[in-house]
Amino acid sequence: MRRIKVRLGDRSYDIVVKPGLLSNGGLGISDIITDRKCLIVSDENVYKIYGTLIAKGLGADAEDVTHIALQPGERSKRLSMVERIYHKALADGLERSSIVVALGGGVPGDIAGFVAATYMRGIGFVQIPTSLLAMVDSSVGGKTGVDMPEGKNLIGSFWQPKAVLIDPEVLATLPPKELRCGLAEVVKYGVIMDAEFFELLENNVGKLLGPDMAVYTKVIARCCELKAEVVSKDERESGLRAILNYGHTFAHAIEKVSGFEGYPHWEAVAVGMNMAARYGVFKGILDKRSADRQEKLLDRLGLPVKAVGLDPESMIEAMSSDKKVRDGVLNFIIPDRIGRVSMNKTADRKTIIKAIKACMV
Ligand code: NAD
Ligand code: GLY
Repeated sequence: MRRIKVRLGDRSYDIVVKPGLLSNGGLGISDIITDRKCLIVSDENVYKIYGTLIAKGLGADAEDVTHIALQPGERSKRLSMVERIYHKALADGLERSSIVVALGGGVPGDIAGFVAATYMRGIGFVQIPTSLLAMVDSSVGGKTGVDMPEGKNLIGSFWQPKAVLIDPEVLATLPPKELRCGLAEVVKYGVIMDAEFFELLENNVGKLLGPDMAVYTKVIARCCELKAEVVSKDERESGLRAILNYGHTFAHAIEKVSGFEGYPHWEAVAVGMNMAARYGVFKGILDKRSADRQEKLLDRLGLPVKAVGLDPESMIEAMSSDKKVRDGVLNFIIPDRIGRVSMNKTADRKTIIKAIKACMV
C-alpha cells in the first residue's frame, strides 16, 4: 500500500493506492463520513460493475448510502446534470456535513466535485477514481467543473477532496482505449518531472499494456506523488502547476481544428507532446535524442505521435484563443531534457508551424 499526502494546510488529504482496497470490506474513511449520509455519483458502466461493492464498503462507515449513475461520457459533464444531482441530494436529505463520493473516471469526478463545491455552499467529497486518467490526474488536485457549449471545463471551481482512494485492480475492466488515454498523462509526468520514472516506463511497456497490477501500483503512486508535489506548491495554477499542461496547448488546437470529432483528447495530447518536444528541438532547447525517446515510448504504448490533415495556420489561430493564453502571448511548456521542463515565452510562428509539420504524416 502507498499513502501520499497532498499538503494544503487544513485542506490536506491522503491519496491511498492499494490493490484490493475496494473489495476488502470497509474503505477506512469513517473519520470523513461524519453524519453517516453519503451520495455516490458514478456513471452507468462503472456503477454496474463496482456500485454494490463500493456501497457496501461505504456502508461500513455510513448508514445511509444512495447513488446516482450518469450516462457514461463527456456529454454528461454539463450544468443540467449538476442540477439533477442537486435534486437527488436534496431528496436524499444530504446536509452540510454529508459526503459526495465520486466513483468513476474524470467525468463523474469533475461533476461530483463541482456538486460538492457548490451544494449548500460546499460539502465534503471523496474521489474513488476508476480510469487510469482519473487515478493519475483528474482525481488529485481539486479541479472540478463542467463543460459549456462554448468549450470544455469553462465552469468550475477548485475544491479539494477529503481523500482519494485508488484500487489499481479496477483497471482490469477498463477498456484498452481508456487505458491508453491515461498512459498519455503517465508519460507526461516522466517527461516533465522525473527522468528515472520515464526510464521505468521504457523498461515496462509490456507490463503497462498488460496491465500488470504490481507495475501499475508503482506507476500510479509515483504519478500521484508528482502531482501532489505540484499542487501543494501551486494549488491555483498561478505558476508551477502549468507544467501539467505540457503538450496540451497543441492538443487543444488539434481538437479544435478537427472539430472535436477527429481526435479524442488522449490522442491529441500524445501528438501535442510530440509537437511541443519538436518545437523545443527546433528552438535549440531540447536535444533531438530526447524528443526521439519520447516519440518512441508514446508509439510503443500504442499512442499516436503524428496527425493527419491538420492546417498549421488554423492550429495557430485555435491556439491563440486557448483559455490558457495570457495577454495574447503563447507560452509553451518545453522540456530541456527528459525529466525537466520550463515555460518558453518566445513562441514564434515559424517554429510552431515547423513543429506541427514535423508531426504530420
Ligand atoms: P470518463 O469518466 O468518461 O471514463 C472513460 C470511460 O471509461 C467511461 O465510459 C467510463 O464508464 C469507463 N470506465 C471508467 N472506469 C472504468 C473501469 N474501471 N472499468 C470499466 N469502465 C470504466 O473519462 P476519463 O477519461 O476518465 O476522464 C476524462 C475527463 O476528465 C474529461 O472530462 C476531462 O476534462 C477530465 N479531466 C479533469 C482533470 C482535473 O484535473 N479535474 C484532469 C484531466 C482530465
Ligand atoms: N490536469 C492538470 C491539472 O490538474 O492542473
